[in-house]
Amino acid sequence: MVATTSTGEGWSSRSAFILAAIGAAVGLGNIWRFPTLAGESGGGAFVIFYIACVFLLGLPLVLSEIFIGRVGQTDAVGSIRRVSAQSKASPNWSIFGAIGALAAFLIVSFYSVVAGWVLYYAGVMGGDLVQAIMAGDPFRGALAGESQSQIQQRLGDMFASPGLLLAMHLVFMGLTLYIVARGVSSGIEKAATYLMPMFFVLLVGLVIYGAVEGDIGDAIAFLFTPDWSKLTPQVMNSALGQALFSLSLGVAGLITYGSYIKEGSGLGPTSALIAVADTCVALLAGLMIFPIVFAVGLDPAAGPTLVFQTLPFAFQTMPGGALFAFLFFVLILVAAVTSSISLLEVPTAWGIGERGWSRPKSALIFGTGAFVVGIACLLGYNIWSDVRPLGFWSLFAETDILDTVDGFTGKVMLPVGALLTSIFIGWKADENLLRATTGLSPLAFSLWRFLIAWLCPIAVAIILATGLFPAILGGQ
Ligand code: TRP
Repeated sequence: MVATTSTGEGWSSRSAFILAAIGAAVGLGNIWRFPTLAGESGGGAFVIFYIACVFLLGLPLVLSEIFIGRVGQTDAVGSIRRVSAQSKASPNWSIFGAIGALAAFLIVSFYSVVAGWVLYYAGVMGGDLVQAIMAGDPFRGALAGESQSQIQQRLGDMFASPGLLLAMHLVFMGLTLYIVARGVSSGIEKAATYLMPMFFVLLVGLVIYGAVEGDIGDAIAFLFTPDWSKLTPQVMNSALGQALFSLSLGVAGLITYGSYIKEGSGLGPTSALIAVADTCVALLAGLMIFPIVFAVGLDPAAGPTLVFQTLPFAFQTMPGGALFAFLFFVLILVAAVTSSISLLEVPTAWGIGERGWSRPKSALIFGTGAFVVGIACLLGYNIWSDVRPLGFWSLFAETDILDTVDGFTGKVMLPVGALLTSIFIGWKADENLLRATTGLSPLAFSLWRFLIAWLCPIAVAIILATGLFPAILGGQ
């Protein structure tokens, strides 16, 4: 057995862990990806199916990952090895911890690039707000005097500028690296305790703004009235994948965070709280964005550019738009920071636990590595726009570098990680250990065991198969 160094670090309290875990879950996935997918998929049916996925599939996996970390008390690989040893299972199961660390490393590389776009937009909107204030009209709409096409052109101009993208990526990755290098209680936990309350205040403020100035009735109808004919296999597949991504599952992120829990049990309610909070934030993000989109009569199905092109234009026509557009991008940025640190933490903990590196060294190695991979991703928007890294694979034949890294991690690595986690917990882990560590009631325990042993592997195998072979779903 390979020796594993316990990282020896820990959360200062249970609520610190919960806040950090919610911070990890709530990110670009909730505020950018969820509304994008809900809009593209036609609303209600997607949303309801998504919620079912979160609770039937996501929640059992959240509890499973936290359980592994809680027992293991070290990085994901070492933690799985420890659970295996205590369950008389093969130590080779720890391979999914290593896959997870690699996936988290790859995800943070492009996550930081996308967060960099948000940073740039926050800067643009901040500058616009300053101008509005200087002009004595702080409550004017955003980007006064720009035409819709000028507003939309900004995104293309940004993509065409490698230097700008690089600078934003550098700032964001640097911040992520700095926080992770400072450690669990003085870095990650501190960031969460400052940023999460700020996030919730901003979110509630923006939802109220949308309700007052926008068309909340239309938004509610759009998000919650199901048209089941829109629930195609593709839509179900993307809802399942989004549930995994939004809860930060499948890359050992919650194993790593769970390993810093020192005392007590109550893992069931804690997991439920994380799933509920993450879902509420996604829904609130929808209730913030769609009233604004509908008020101006824009298309909810704009896709990934919804947040960068559709919304800024909507903010232009609304009173207070300059101020709220700025706050909106700050909100996304805050959410992105607490998620990116959770991603970088997974490989960093691996370096500490399995390689015996110091925390700053490990964070520096993986943070720099992810920065370099991210550079390739951002160059894929301009000078390397013809590069197709997995072009030989029909699934990725048309995708640029960033979308390839995103697609490969999201469609392959994340479901594989989740699949192995569910099989490991459902079929290999020692039942008494599971019972004692989670502290679930007998009924909740049976339900969890059923979902993790049967529903999760089957459902995740379907996401994996249909993600890899879209032809199964027909068309494409
Ligand atoms: N859940 C985060 C979001 O919604 C992103 C994220 C953080 C993540 N850690 C993860 C996604 C681990 C997958 C795996 O933005």
